[in-house]
Amino acid sequence: MEQGSQVPHVIIFPLPALGPVNSTLKLAELLSLAGLNITFLNTDFNHDRLVLHSNILDRFASFPGFQFKTISDGLPADHPRAGDRFMELFDSFKLVTKPLFREMLCSGQLNSVTGDSVTCIIADGILSFPIDVGHELGIPVISIRTISACSFWAFFSIQDIIEAGELPSRGHEDMDRLITSVPGMETFLRLRDLPSICRTNNLEDPNLQHNAYANRQSVQAQGLILNTFEDLEGPILSHIRSQCPKVYTLGPLHTFLKFRLESENALLQSLAPNSIYKVDKSCIEWLNAQPLKSVIYVSFGSITILTRDELMEFWYGLVNSKKRFLWVIRPDLVTQKDDEGQIPMELLEGTKDIGYIVGWAPQEEVLAHQAVGGFLTHSGWNSTLESIVAGVPMICWSYFYDQQVNSRFVSEVWKLGMDMKDVCDRVIIEKMVNDLMGEKSEVFMKSTVEMARLASESVSEGGSSYCNFNRLIEDIRLMSM
Ligand code: UDX
Repeated sequence: MEQGSQVPHVIIFPLPALGPVNSTLKLAELLSLAGLNITFLNTDFNHDRLVLHSNILDRFASFPGFQFKTISDGLPADHPRAGDRFMELFDSFKLVTKPLFREMLCSGQLNSVTGDSVTCIIADGILSFPIDVGHELGIPVISIRTISACSFWAFFSIQDIIEAGELPSRGHEDMDRLITSVPGMETFLRLRDLPSICRTNNLEDPNLQHNAYANRQSVQAQGLILNTFEDLEGPILSHIRSQCPKVYTLGPLHTFLKFRLESENALLQSLAPNSIYKVDKSCIEWLNAQPLKSVIYVSFGSITILTRDELMEFWYGLVNSKKRFLWVIRPDLVTQKDDEGQIPMELLEGTKDIGYIVGWAPQEEVLAHQAVGGFLTHSGWNSTLESIVAGVPMICWSYFYDQQVNSRFVSEVWKLGMDMKDVCDRVIIEKMVNDLMGEKSEVFMKSTVEMARLASESVSEGGSSYCNFNRLIEDIRLMSM
Protein backbone atom coordinates (compact mmCIF):
# COMPACT_ATOMS: atom_id res chain seq x y z
CA MET A 1 0.00 0.00 0.00
CA GLU A 2 1.22 3.47 -0.82
CA GLN A 3 1.79 5.55 2.25
CA GLY A 4 2.40 9.21 3.02
CA SER A 5 5.96 10.24 3.73
CA GLN A 6 5.06 11.72 7.12
CA VAL A 7 5.78 9.54 10.12
CA PRO A 8 2.54 9.47 12.15
CA HIS A 9 2.69 11.33 15.44
CA VAL A 10 0.38 9.79 18.01
CA ILE A 11 -0.54 11.28 21.38
CA ILE A 12 -1.37 8.64 23.96
CA PHE A 13 -3.45 9.90 26.87
CA PRO A 14 -4.27 7.26 29.52
CA LEU A 15 -6.70 7.28 32.41
CA PRO A 16 -4.49 8.23 35.37
CA ALA A 17 -4.62 4.98 37.34
CA LEU A 18 -1.75 2.53 37.44
CA GLY A 19 -3.45 -0.29 35.52
CA PRO A 20 -4.46 1.89 32.56
CA VAL A 21 -1.13 3.77 32.59
CA ASN A 22 0.73 0.48 32.61
CA SER A 23 -1.12 -1.03 29.70
CA THR A 24 -1.06 2.13 27.58
CA LEU A 25 2.69 2.39 28.16
CA LYS A 26 2.92 -1.09 26.70
CA LEU A 27 0.95 0.05 23.68
CA ALA A 28 3.24 3.11 23.45
CA GLU A 29 6.27 0.84 23.36
CA LEU A 30 4.72 -1.41 20.71
CA LEU A 31 3.88 1.60 18.52
CA SER A 32 7.39 3.01 19.02
CA LEU A 33 8.87 -0.34 17.97
CA ALA A 34 6.72 -0.08 14.83
CA GLY A 35 8.44 3.24 14.02
CA LEU A 36 5.72 5.75 14.96
CA ASN A 37 6.45 9.01 16.79
CA ILE A 38 4.77 8.91 20.18
CA THR A 39 4.00 11.54 22.81
CA PHE A 40 2.84 9.95 26.06
CA LEU A 41 0.73 12.47 27.94
CA ASN A 42 0.45 11.62 31.62
CA THR A 43 -0.82 13.64 34.57
CA ASP A 44 1.95 15.42 36.51
CA PHE A 45 0.98 13.45 39.59
CA ASN A 46 1.38 10.01 37.99
CA HIS A 47 4.39 10.94 35.87
CA ASP A 48 6.34 12.10 38.93
CA ARG A 49 5.58 8.85 40.75
CA LEU A 50 6.51 6.74 37.74
CA VAL A 51 9.84 8.54 37.36
CA LEU A 52 10.54 8.18 41.06
CA HIS A 53 9.88 4.44 41.29
CA SER A 54 10.76 2.96 37.92
CA ASN A 55 13.33 3.08 35.15
CA ILE A 56 10.72 4.52 32.82
CA LEU A 57 12.91 7.30 31.36
CA ASP A 58 15.79 4.91 30.51
CA ARG A 59 13.36 2.43 29.13
CA PHE A 60 12.03 4.79 26.47
CA ALA A 61 15.32 6.59 25.84
CA SER A 62 16.16 4.22 22.99
CA PHE A 63 13.19 5.45 20.92
CA PRO A 64 14.24 8.71 19.22
CA GLY A 65 10.62 9.54 18.29
CA PHE A 66 9.27 9.09 21.82
CA GLN A 67 8.68 11.75 24.46
CA PHE A 68 6.81 12.15 27.74
CA LYS A 69 4.68 15.25 28.32
CA THR A 70 2.61 16.05 31.38
CA ILE A 71 -0.64 17.82 32.08
CA SER A 72 -2.42 18.84 35.29
CA ASP A 73 -5.30 16.69 36.53
CA GLY A 74 -6.61 19.78 38.31
CA LEU A 75 -6.54 18.27 41.82
CA PRO A 76 -4.36 19.41 44.73
CA ALA A 77 -1.18 17.38 45.30
CA ASP A 78 -2.45 15.88 48.56
CA HIS A 79 -5.74 14.60 47.11
CA PRO A 80 -5.87 10.78 47.60
CA ARG A 81 -6.98 9.94 44.01
CA ALA A 82 -8.06 6.51 45.31
CA GLY A 83 -11.15 4.65 46.45
CA ASP A 84 -14.43 6.55 46.00
CA ARG A 85 -12.60 9.85 45.67
CA PHE A 86 -10.99 8.66 42.45
CA MET A 87 -14.15 9.73 40.62
CA GLU A 88 -13.50 13.38 41.58
CA LEU A 89 -10.89 13.36 38.86
CA PHE A 90 -13.59 13.47 36.22
CA ASP A 91 -14.95 16.85 37.33
CA SER A 92 -11.52 18.40 37.53
CA PHE A 93 -10.64 16.95 34.13
CA LYS A 94 -13.62 18.72 32.63
CA LEU A 95 -12.84 22.01 34.32
CA VAL A 96 -9.04 22.13 34.14
CA THR A 97 -7.56 19.43 31.92
CA LYS A 98 -9.82 19.73 28.89
CA PRO A 99 -9.05 23.43 28.17
CA LEU A 100 -5.38 22.82 28.92
CA PHE A 101 -5.28 19.90 26.48
CA ARG A 102 -6.85 22.02 23.73
CA GLU A 103 -4.41 24.84 24.39
CA MET A 104 -1.40 22.50 24.40
CA LEU A 105 -2.47 21.04 21.05
CA CYS A 106 -3.14 24.44 19.45
CA SER A 107 0.06 26.06 20.70
CA GLY A 108 2.29 23.25 19.46
CA GLN A 109 3.36 22.23 22.99
CA LEU A 110 2.42 18.67 22.10
CA ASN A 111 4.31 18.59 18.80
CA SER A 112 6.58 15.61 18.32
CA VAL A 113 10.32 15.55 19.04
CA THR A 114 10.81 16.34 15.36
CA GLY A 115 8.42 19.31 15.60
CA ASP A 116 5.50 17.66 13.78
CA SER A 117 1.96 18.24 14.88
CA VAL A 118 -0.28 15.51 16.21
CA THR A 119 -1.80 13.27 13.53
CA CYS A 120 -3.76 10.91 15.80
CA ILE A 121 -4.91 10.85 19.42
CA ILE A 122 -5.27 7.58 21.30
CA ALA A 123 -7.08 8.45 24.54
CA ASP A 124 -8.86 6.49 27.21
CA GLY A 125 -12.48 6.50 26.11
CA ILE A 126 -13.78 7.13 29.62
CA LEU A 127 -12.15 10.57 29.56
CA SER A 128 -14.39 11.45 26.59
CA PHE A 129 -13.12 15.05 26.33
CA PRO A 130 -10.17 14.15 24.03
CA ILE A 131 -12.77 12.95 21.51
CA ASP A 132 -14.54 16.35 21.69
CA VAL A 133 -11.25 18.23 21.37
CA GLY A 134 -10.08 15.97 18.51
CA HIS A 135 -13.32 16.51 16.61
CA GLU A 136 -13.10 20.27 17.22
CA LEU A 137 -9.53 20.47 15.91
CA GLY A 138 -9.93 17.92 13.11
CA ILE A 139 -7.52 15.37 14.66
CA PRO A 140 -8.57 11.70 14.38
CA VAL A 141 -9.14 10.00 17.72
CA ILE A 142 -9.05 6.30 18.56
CA SER A 143 -10.44 5.34 21.96
CA ILE A 144 -8.65 2.87 24.15
CA ARG A 145 -10.40 1.12 27.04
CA THR A 146 -8.11 -0.79 29.31
CA ILE A 147 -10.98 -2.71 30.87
CA SER A 148 -12.36 -6.05 29.64
CA ALA A 149 -14.75 -6.22 26.70
CA CYS A 150 -17.38 -7.74 29.01
CA SER A 151 -17.25 -4.89 31.50
CA PHE A 152 -17.09 -2.30 28.71
CA TRP A 153 -20.25 -3.83 27.26
CA ALA A 154 -21.99 -3.75 30.65
CA PHE A 155 -21.06 -0.07 31.02
CA PHE A 156 -22.19 0.58 27.47
CA SER A 157 -25.59 -0.93 28.33
CA ILE A 158 -26.21 1.25 31.41
CA GLN A 159 -28.73 3.41 29.56
CA ASP A 160 -30.68 0.28 28.57
CA ILE A 161 -30.49 -1.08 32.12
CA ILE A 162 -31.92 2.20 33.41
CA GLU A 163 -34.67 2.23 30.79
CA ALA A 164 -35.59 -1.37 31.58
CA GLY A 165 -36.01 -0.38 35.24
CA GLU A 166 -33.39 -2.95 36.30
CA LEU A 167 -31.36 -0.81 38.68
CA PRO A 168 -32.03 -1.31 42.40
CA SER A 169 -35.30 0.14 43.60
CA ARG A 170 -35.75 1.68 47.05
CA GLY A 171 -35.99 -0.73 49.95
CA HIS A 172 -34.87 -4.34 50.08
CA GLU A 173 -33.22 -5.53 46.92
CA ASP A 174 -32.53 -9.06 45.73
CA MET A 175 -28.93 -8.78 44.57
CA ASP A 176 -29.20 -12.18 42.86
CA ARG A 177 -31.90 -10.94 40.49
CA LEU A 178 -30.88 -11.58 36.85
CA ILE A 179 -30.34 -8.56 34.61
CA THR A 180 -31.87 -9.03 31.18
CA SER A 181 -30.89 -5.84 29.38
CA VAL A 182 -27.21 -6.53 28.68
CA PRO A 183 -27.21 -8.51 25.42
CA GLY A 184 -25.17 -11.69 25.68
CA MET A 185 -25.28 -11.85 29.49
CA GLU A 186 -28.98 -12.47 30.15
CA THR A 187 -28.53 -15.89 31.71
CA PHE A 188 -25.84 -15.21 34.30
CA LEU A 189 -25.40 -11.50 35.05
CA ARG A 190 -26.96 -10.67 38.42
CA LEU A 191 -27.60 -7.28 39.95
CA ARG A 192 -24.55 -7.82 42.16
CA ASP A 193 -22.38 -8.40 39.05
CA LEU A 194 -23.15 -5.04 37.46
CA PRO A 195 -20.45 -2.34 37.60
CA SER A 196 -20.49 -1.01 41.17
CA ILE A 197 -21.73 2.40 40.06
CA CYS A 198 -25.06 0.70 39.25
CA ARG A 199 -25.68 0.02 42.94
CA THR A 200 -27.86 3.08 43.27
CA ASN A 201 -31.50 3.94 42.97
CA ASN A 202 -30.64 7.56 42.25
CA LEU A 203 -30.82 8.00 38.50
CA GLU A 204 -29.23 11.44 38.87
CA ASP A 205 -26.12 9.97 40.50
CA PRO A 206 -23.21 11.78 38.77
CA ASN A 207 -21.06 8.62 38.47
CA LEU A 208 -23.89 6.72 36.89
CA GLN A 209 -24.67 9.56 34.54
CA HIS A 210 -21.02 10.08 33.60
CA ASN A 211 -20.47 6.41 32.84
CA ALA A 212 -23.71 6.03 30.92
CA TYR A 213 -22.65 8.97 28.75
CA ALA A 214 -18.89 8.45 28.44
CA ASN A 215 -19.02 4.79 27.50
CA ARG A 216 -21.46 5.45 24.65
CA GLN A 217 -19.40 8.48 23.67
CA SER A 218 -16.20 6.43 23.45
CA VAL A 219 -17.46 4.68 20.31
CA GLN A 220 -17.80 8.09 18.59
CA ALA A 221 -14.07 7.88 17.93
CA GLN A 222 -12.63 6.40 14.70
CA GLY A 223 -11.96 3.10 16.43
CA LEU A 224 -11.74 1.33 19.75
CA ILE A 225 -8.69 -0.48 21.14
CA LEU A 226 -9.28 -3.13 23.79
CA ASN A 227 -6.70 -4.99 25.84
CA THR A 228 -8.26 -8.40 25.40
CA PHE A 229 -8.16 -11.25 22.89
CA GLU A 230 -10.73 -12.84 20.61
CA ASP A 231 -10.57 -16.34 22.10
CA LEU A 232 -11.40 -14.94 25.53
CA GLU A 233 -14.19 -12.52 24.70
CA GLY A 234 -15.31 -13.28 21.12
CA PRO A 235 -19.08 -13.44 21.76
CA ILE A 236 -19.18 -10.13 23.67
CA LEU A 237 -16.91 -8.50 21.08
CA SER A 238 -19.52 -9.29 18.41
CA HIS A 239 -22.03 -7.23 20.40
CA ILE A 240 -19.56 -4.35 20.71
CA ARG A 241 -18.85 -4.51 16.96
CA SER A 242 -22.54 -3.96 16.27
CA GLN A 243 -22.02 -0.46 17.76
CA CYS A 244 -18.44 0.23 16.72
CA PRO A 245 -17.21 -1.58 13.61
CA LYS A 246 -13.50 -0.82 14.13
CA VAL A 247 -12.53 -2.71 17.25
CA TYR A 248 -8.85 -3.59 17.63
CA THR A 249 -8.28 -6.30 20.24
CA LEU A 250 -4.55 -6.22 20.99
CA GLY A 251 -4.26 -8.15 24.22
CA PRO A 252 -2.82 -9.29 26.39
CA LEU A 253 -0.64 -6.23 25.76
CA HIS A 254 2.03 -7.17 28.30
CA THR A 255 2.55 -10.54 26.59
CA PHE A 256 2.44 -8.98 23.14
CA LEU A 257 5.20 -6.57 24.12
CA LYS A 258 7.27 -9.34 25.68
CA PHE A 259 7.06 -11.40 22.47
CA ARG A 260 7.92 -8.38 20.30
CA LEU A 261 10.94 -7.51 22.41
CA GLU A 262 12.12 -11.10 22.41
CA SER A 263 11.78 -11.32 18.66
CA GLU A 264 13.78 -8.09 18.29
CA ASN A 265 16.35 -9.38 20.79
CA ALA A 266 15.74 -6.25 22.81
CA LEU A 267 17.14 -5.96 26.30
CA LEU A 268 15.00 -7.85 28.79
CA GLN A 269 15.73 -5.07 31.25
CA SER A 270 13.16 -3.04 29.37
CA LEU A 271 10.53 -5.49 30.56
CA ALA A 272 10.86 -4.29 34.13
CA PRO A 273 7.42 -3.24 35.37
CA ASN A 274 6.36 0.39 35.46
CA SER A 275 5.40 1.33 38.93
CA ILE A 276 4.15 4.15 41.05
CA TYR A 277 5.29 2.36 44.22
CA LYS A 278 8.72 1.13 45.23
CA VAL A 279 8.94 -2.51 44.14
CA ASP A 280 10.12 -4.93 46.85
CA LYS A 281 11.91 -7.73 45.01
CA SER A 282 12.80 -9.58 48.19
CA CYS A 283 9.59 -11.57 47.79
CA ILE A 284 11.12 -13.40 44.81
CA GLU A 285 13.84 -14.79 47.08
CA TRP A 286 11.15 -15.85 49.54
CA LEU A 287 9.19 -17.51 46.69
CA ASN A 288 12.34 -19.31 45.54
CA ALA A 289 12.36 -21.13 48.87
CA GLN A 290 8.72 -22.29 48.65
CA PRO A 291 7.49 -25.58 47.15
CA LEU A 292 5.86 -25.79 43.73
CA LYS A 293 2.42 -24.12 43.52
CA SER A 294 2.19 -23.84 47.29
CA VAL A 295 1.70 -20.05 47.61
CA ILE A 296 -1.40 -17.95 47.19
CA TYR A 297 -0.53 -14.44 46.01
CA VAL A 298 -2.78 -11.73 47.45
CA SER A 299 -3.01 -8.27 45.91
CA PHE A 300 -5.75 -5.72 45.40
CA GLY A 301 -4.17 -3.47 42.77
CA SER A 302 -3.30 0.18 43.03
CA ILE A 303 -6.45 1.97 44.19
CA THR A 304 -8.48 -0.45 46.32
CA ILE A 305 -8.95 0.57 49.94
CA LEU A 306 -9.70 -1.86 52.78
CA THR A 307 -11.13 -1.14 56.20
CA ARG A 308 -9.10 -2.45 59.09
CA ASP A 309 -11.84 -5.04 59.71
CA GLU A 310 -11.59 -6.32 56.14
CA LEU A 311 -7.81 -6.48 56.44
CA MET A 312 -8.15 -8.62 59.55
CA GLU A 313 -10.75 -10.93 57.94
CA PHE A 314 -8.33 -11.57 55.08
CA TRP A 315 -5.51 -12.16 57.50
CA TYR A 316 -7.44 -14.64 59.63
CA GLY A 317 -8.79 -16.37 56.54
CA LEU A 318 -5.30 -16.75 55.11
CA VAL A 319 -3.62 -17.83 58.33
CA ASN A 320 -6.41 -20.29 59.17
CA SER A 321 -6.16 -21.85 55.72
CA LYS A 322 -2.59 -22.84 56.66
CA LYS A 323 -1.53 -22.17 53.08
CA ARG A 324 1.54 -20.09 52.39
CA PHE A 325 0.78 -16.60 51.15
CA LEU A 326 2.51 -13.58 49.65
CA TRP A 327 0.48 -10.46 50.38
CA VAL A 328 0.84 -6.97 48.94
CA ILE A 329 -0.17 -4.40 51.56
CA ARG A 330 0.35 -1.01 49.93
CA PRO A 331 1.20 1.84 52.30
CA ASP A 332 -2.21 3.37 51.50
CA LEU A 333 -4.25 0.14 51.34
CA VAL A 334 -5.99 0.55 54.68
CA THR A 335 -8.38 3.40 55.50
CA GLN A 336 -6.62 5.96 57.62
CA LYS A 337 -8.56 6.72 60.79
CA ASP A 338 -6.39 7.89 63.69
CA ASP A 339 -3.69 5.23 63.78
CA GLU A 340 -5.77 2.63 61.98
CA GLY A 341 -3.73 2.96 58.80
CA GLN A 342 -0.91 1.03 60.45
CA ILE A 343 -0.63 -2.70 59.83
CA PRO A 344 -1.62 -4.33 63.16
CA MET A 345 1.30 -5.91 65.06
CA GLU A 346 -0.52 -9.24 65.41
CA LEU A 347 -0.63 -9.43 61.64
CA LEU A 348 3.05 -8.61 61.18
CA GLU A 349 4.23 -10.98 63.87
CA GLY A 350 1.79 -13.80 63.31
CA THR A 351 2.63 -14.04 59.65
CA LYS A 352 6.30 -14.92 59.83
CA ASP A 353 6.03 -18.69 59.41
CA ILE A 354 3.79 -19.02 56.40
CA GLY A 355 3.36 -15.56 54.97
CA TYR A 356 5.39 -12.76 53.45
CA ILE A 357 4.18 -9.17 53.19
CA VAL A 358 5.49 -6.51 50.83
CA GLY A 359 4.38 -2.95 50.07
CA TRP A 360 4.50 -3.57 46.33
CA ALA A 361 5.54 -6.66 44.37
CA PRO A 362 6.89 -7.28 40.86
CA GLN A 363 3.49 -8.79 40.06
CA GLU A 364 4.06 -10.25 36.60
CA GLU A 365 7.20 -11.97 37.87
CA VAL A 366 5.39 -13.20 40.96
CA LEU A 367 2.50 -14.69 38.97
CA ALA A 368 4.95 -16.42 36.64
CA HIS A 369 6.84 -17.95 39.59
CA GLN A 370 6.52 -21.71 39.93
CA ALA A 371 5.78 -21.46 43.66
CA VAL A 372 2.55 -19.51 43.02
CA GLY A 373 -0.57 -21.66 42.72
CA GLY A 374 -3.38 -19.14 43.19
CA PHE A 375 -4.19 -15.44 43.17
CA LEU A 376 -6.57 -13.68 45.55
CA THR A 377 -7.34 -10.57 43.51
CA HIS A 378 -9.62 -7.53 43.33
CA SER A 379 -10.27 -8.48 39.68
CA GLY A 380 -8.77 -5.35 38.17
CA TRP A 381 -8.43 -6.06 34.47
CA ASN A 382 -4.64 -6.00 34.31
CA SER A 383 -4.33 -8.34 37.25
CA THR A 384 -6.90 -10.64 35.66
CA LEU A 385 -5.07 -10.72 32.34
CA GLU A 386 -1.72 -11.22 34.04
CA SER A 387 -3.17 -14.17 35.94
CA ILE A 388 -4.66 -15.65 32.76
CA VAL A 389 -1.32 -15.40 30.95
CA ALA A 390 0.49 -17.05 33.86
CA GLY A 391 -2.15 -19.81 34.05
CA VAL A 392 -2.90 -19.04 37.71
CA PRO A 393 -6.47 -19.63 39.00
CA MET A 394 -8.12 -16.81 40.92
CA ILE A 395 -10.25 -16.05 43.94
CA CYS A 396 -12.02 -12.79 43.14
CA TRP A 397 -12.90 -10.20 45.74
CA SER A 398 -14.07 -7.39 43.51
CA TYR A 399 -13.89 -3.92 45.00
CA PHE A 400 -15.47 -1.54 42.53
CA TYR A 401 -16.13 -0.28 39.03
CA ASP A 402 -15.48 -2.95 36.32
CA GLN A 403 -14.29 -5.57 38.80
CA GLN A 404 -17.76 -6.92 39.62
CA VAL A 405 -18.28 -7.89 35.96
CA ASN A 406 -14.78 -9.36 35.58
CA SER A 407 -15.16 -11.58 38.61
CA ARG A 408 -18.47 -12.97 37.32
CA PHE A 409 -16.84 -13.84 33.98
CA VAL A 410 -13.82 -15.41 35.72
CA SER A 411 -16.04 -17.78 37.67
CA GLU A 412 -19.15 -18.33 35.54
CA VAL A 413 -18.01 -17.96 31.94
CA TRP A 414 -14.31 -18.71 31.77
CA LYS A 415 -14.21 -21.07 34.76
CA LEU A 416 -10.83 -19.71 35.82
CA GLY A 417 -11.58 -19.31 39.50
CA MET A 418 -14.10 -18.49 42.22
CA ASP A 419 -16.06 -15.34 42.95
CA MET A 420 -16.28 -14.18 46.56
CA LYS A 421 -18.47 -11.25 45.61
CA ASP A 422 -19.76 -9.02 48.43
CA VAL A 423 -18.48 -11.26 51.19
CA CYS A 424 -15.44 -10.59 53.34
CA ASP A 425 -15.55 -13.31 55.95
CA ARG A 426 -12.61 -15.24 57.38
CA VAL A 427 -14.44 -18.59 57.21
CA ILE A 428 -15.30 -18.18 53.51
CA ILE A 429 -11.80 -16.92 52.71
CA GLU A 430 -10.25 -19.92 54.45
CA LYS A 431 -12.53 -22.32 52.58
CA MET A 432 -11.99 -20.73 49.19
CA VAL A 433 -8.22 -20.66 49.62
CA ASN A 434 -8.25 -24.32 50.59
CA ASP A 435 -10.51 -25.24 47.68
CA LEU A 436 -8.50 -23.30 45.13
CA MET A 437 -5.16 -24.58 46.35
CA GLY A 438 -6.41 -28.08 47.12
CA GLU A 439 -9.43 -30.05 45.99
CA LYS A 440 -10.40 -27.85 43.04
CA SER A 441 -6.92 -26.99 41.85
CA GLU A 442 -6.77 -29.67 39.16
CA VAL A 443 -10.07 -28.64 37.59
CA PHE A 444 -9.05 -25.00 37.51
CA MET A 445 -5.56 -25.84 36.31
CA LYS A 446 -7.01 -27.45 33.18
CA SER A 447 -8.93 -24.34 32.13
CA THR A 448 -6.21 -21.89 33.17
CA VAL A 449 -3.52 -23.76 31.23
CA GLU A 450 -5.72 -23.83 28.11
CA MET A 451 -6.57 -20.12 28.36
CA ALA A 452 -2.91 -19.23 28.88
CA ARG A 453 -2.11 -21.12 25.68
CA LEU A 454 -4.78 -19.20 23.73
CA ALA A 455 -3.54 -15.89 25.14
CA SER A 456 -0.05 -16.64 23.97
CA GLU A 457 -1.27 -17.74 20.53
CA SER A 458 -3.22 -14.52 20.04
CA VAL A 459 -0.07 -12.38 20.21
CA SER A 460 2.13 -14.74 18.20
CA GLU A 461 2.62 -14.31 14.46
CA GLY A 462 -0.72 -14.82 12.69
CA GLY A 463 -2.71 -14.63 15.97
CA SER A 464 -5.72 -12.31 16.28
CA SER A 465 -4.03 -9.60 18.36
CA TYR A 466 -0.94 -9.75 16.17
CA CYS A 467 -3.02 -9.19 13.01
CA ASN A 468 -5.15 -6.48 14.64
CA PHE A 469 -2.04 -4.59 15.64
CA ASN A 470 -0.82 -4.53 12.02
CA ARG A 471 -4.27 -3.30 10.97
CA LEU A 472 -4.10 -0.55 13.59
CA ILE A 473 -0.70 0.65 12.35
CA GLU A 474 -1.99 0.70 8.79
CA ASP A 475 -5.09 2.68 9.80
CA ILE A 476 -3.04 5.19 11.80
CA ARG A 477 -0.79 5.71 8.78
CA LEU A 478 -3.82 6.30 6.56
CA MET A 479 -5.31 8.77 9.07
CA SER A 480 -1.98 10.60 9.20
CA MET A 481 -1.60 11.19 5.46
C1 UDX B 1 -7.72 0.18 37.83
C2 UDX B 1 -9.08 -0.35 38.28
O1 UDX B 1 -9.13 -0.44 39.66
C3 UDX B 1 -9.38 -1.67 37.64
O2 UDX B 1 -10.64 -2.11 38.03
C4 UDX B 1 -9.37 -1.52 36.17
O3 UDX B 1 -9.67 -2.76 35.58
C5 UDX B 1 -8.06 -0.97 35.72
O4 UDX B 1 -7.79 0.24 36.41
P1 UDX B 1 -5.96 -1.24 39.39
O5 UDX B 1 -6.89 -1.25 40.53
O6 UDX B 1 -4.65 -0.66 39.61
O7 UDX B 1 -6.61 -0.62 38.07
O8 UDX B 1 -5.85 -2.82 39.01
P2 UDX B 1 -5.24 -3.61 37.82
O9 UDX B 1 -5.90 -3.30 36.54
O10 UDX B 1 -5.28 -5.01 38.22
O11 UDX B 1 -3.74 -3.10 37.70
C6 UDX B 1 -2.81 -3.22 38.72
C7 UDX B 1 -1.43 -3.26 38.11
O12 UDX B 1 -0.50 -3.05 39.14
C8 UDX B 1 -1.11 -4.57 37.43
O13 UDX B 1 -0.47 -4.34 36.19
C9 UDX B 1 -0.15 -5.25 38.39
O14 UDX B 1 0.83 -6.04 37.78
C10 UDX B 1 0.49 -4.07 39.07
N1 UDX B 1 0.89 -4.42 40.44
C11 UDX B 1 -0.02 -4.59 41.42
C12 UDX B 1 2.22 -4.57 40.70
O15 UDX B 1 3.06 -4.44 39.80
N2 UDX B 1 2.60 -4.87 41.96
C13 UDX B 1 1.72 -5.04 42.97
O16 UDX B 1 2.16 -5.31 44.09
C14 UDX B 1 0.35 -4.89 42.69
